[in-house]
Amino acid sequence: MDNTSNQALLKPIKVGDVSLKNRMVMAPLTRSRAEDAENAASDLHVKYYTQRAGAGLIISEGSQVSKQAVGYVNTAGIHSLAQIEGWKKVTDSVHKEGGKIFCQLWHVGRISHPDFHNGEKPWAPSAVNPNSQSFTPDGFKDTVDPHAMSLGEIKQTIGEFKQAAKNAVEAGFDGVEIHSSNGYLFHQFFNRSSNKRDDDYGGTIEKRAKFLFDVLEEVKKEVPEGRIGLRLNPSLHGVFGMEADEETIPTFEYIVKKLNAYNLAYVHMSEPFTDISDIDFLIGNIAEHFRPLYDGNLMINNGFDQKTGNKVISDKKADMVAYGKLFIANPDLPKRFAENAPLNEGDPDTYYQGGEKGYIDYPFLEEKEV
Ligand code: PHB
Repeated sequence: MDNTSNQALLKPIKVGDVSLKNRMVMAPLTRSRAEDAENAASDLHVKYYTQRAGAGLIISEGSQVSKQAVGYVNTAGIHSLAQIEGWKKVTDSVHKEGGKIFCQLWHVGRISHPDFHNGEKPWAPSAVNPNSQSFTPDGFKDTVDPHAMSLGEIKQTIGEFKQAAKNAVEAGFDGVEIHSSNGYLFHQFFNRSSNKRDDDYGGTIEKRAKFLFDVLEEVKKEVPEGRIGLRLNPSLHGVFGMEADEETIPTFEYIVKKLNAYNLAYVHMSEPFTDISDIDFLIGNIAEHFRPLYDGNLMINNGFDQKTGNKVISDKKADMVAYGKLFIANPDLPKRFAENAPLNEGDPDTYYQGGEKGYIDYPFLEEKEV
């Protein structure tokens, strides 16, 4: 394996307004450790993120933009004062260690449960049950038919993203990532199976994408375009309640091309989460397909290792690689890649469990050697 200077992953890059010391990004990861009544980041979060400050960029766990936006127990938020204060401690500490951190702005839409909303239905573009599950305080529960958002509720939600972006700046984040991926609210607008609207927000590709661009226009009033990233998962099918069809890839092509008009920090895309090789209307190589369509920095995610991560960058199919599970188990992942050192194994049983175990206790390289 190449030494540091030859590894594409370890070369610095400027994305929008933000200079990154390497191209290894810590992917946004739900870890369900915001266990206080406020769902605020705690001292445990400070330690967890600071341990991983060697990443070129950390993208925070998805943080709900409002009470309405929640769908999983113990996920952090970015809508209350206590949450802003909690995140401030995290960003301060990450910055002291020389790291950069964006806040992922999250709204789950219909992947929620009435238990989170005083018995009321969660909100979505249309009243279509994703037939998925929500991680409630009483364990996993089946999703329900959501409430179809009115135009007023859409406007309100766009405002909540703007406010959350403002909160993220106040909390000291270097930027924000709009979580328009993985079957959550934006994705529910994009796909025909979840969006049956016949108003300005549904019907055609342009109208199904409108919610995203409306949010982007508002968020950029609070955060410069060069500090905004955005996440997309075009080939998601059969998981997170998402059903794709032959208009799905053209929808994402439209979105990605339209994003060229913005000088974003990056667009973050995922390779398929499941085997979609028998579905002819989906695409199995997202970086390769979308790279020529997008003029800005492309971040790619899902299933990459040291070798394939370096290759996707040297082949010019992406500019950065986001690592999830590898960063959970290896707080010093860039150092390990630089030294071609062995990696720790992650423990999936502790991914979503509360507390310190499997969160802040993975060994660093030096500690292993003693
Ligand atoms: C998860 O908790 O499994 C999860 C959350 C957000 C995502 C993807 C997966 O975008």
